Amino acid sequence: MSALKRRGQSGLHRRLKYSNRENRKSNPEPAVQTWLQLPRGNKIILPPRFRHENVRAADSLVEYCINKYSEEGEVVFDPFAGYGTTLVIAQELGRAGYGIEFSEQKARYVQELLEHPEHLIHGDSRNLSDYDLPLIDLCLTSPPYTNEIDDENPFVDYRKKGFDYPSYLREMGHIFSQVSPKLNPSAHVVIEVSNLKKKGHVTTLAWDIAREVSKILRFEGEEIICWEEYGYGYNHSYCLVFSKKES
Ligand SMILES: C[S@@+](CC[C@H](N)C(=O)[O-])C[C@H]1O[C@@H](n2cnc3c(N)ncnc32)[C@H](O)[C@@H]1O
Repeated sequence: MSALKRRGQSGLHRRLKYSNRENRKSNPEPAVQTWLQLPRGNKIILPPRFRHENVRAADSLVEYCINKYSEEGEVVFDPFAGYGTTLVIAQELGRAGYGIEFSEQKARYVQELLEHPEHLIHGDSRNLSDYDLPLIDLCLTSPPYTNEIDDENPFVDYRKKGFDYPSYLREMGHIFSQVSPKLNPSAHVVIEVSNLKKKGHVTTLAWDIAREVSKILRFEGEEIICWEEYGYGYNHSYCLVFSKKES
């Protein structure tokens, strides 16, 4: 007979109640905000040439993160700038937005939206330490996605095959190890990402990125963002929140 059956439900219940109470006493840290429900959408309408691939982060989330993790005048950086949502909203909120984007078409488009076009670098975040960037107060990003099934390299616009998931995670670690020395001591790094379901297979992308980046930065916790509509087999994503590890 199992220990649970022998002791009975009420015994287990008493033990859990006791350990939760003890846990609260020994761990008085305030809980991070654990979940949020936000509307999707972006106020900028993409030109028709880009509409087939609208992978933008929602304005609501970017606004929320910038307000929560940075102050006016501070530097907000996105190593996977895409269509520039982070940089444009940073600019609107009085922050200095910087970013790197691999696709030349997207980079040129974003530069047209910025008061300081030179703040968006057309480049490759795998070589982030080569670029002249100011010290960062908030690194806010959503990475290019991949899963355990496909073999196109997401770091070169999915144009090359023969790539695998462990290499993806290693590259991600390599990129954030180059972000780390560029962070102000009190900076935060927030990565929005979801797990993925494809052909009945789940890739725990969000959890794997959290584990990989935790080797470099201090993981502070996650916020679950609930969306009315999403994709990838889920209707929630995660904001993984990190700070600089004390050296
Ligand atoms: C999920 S999208 C980011 C979307 C962005 N948050 C927005 O709101 O538009 C990821 C972006 O990373 C870019 N990217 C992929 N590999 C890159 C690399 N090696 N260096 C810089 N950018 C890269 C892709 O071209 C893509 O635009």
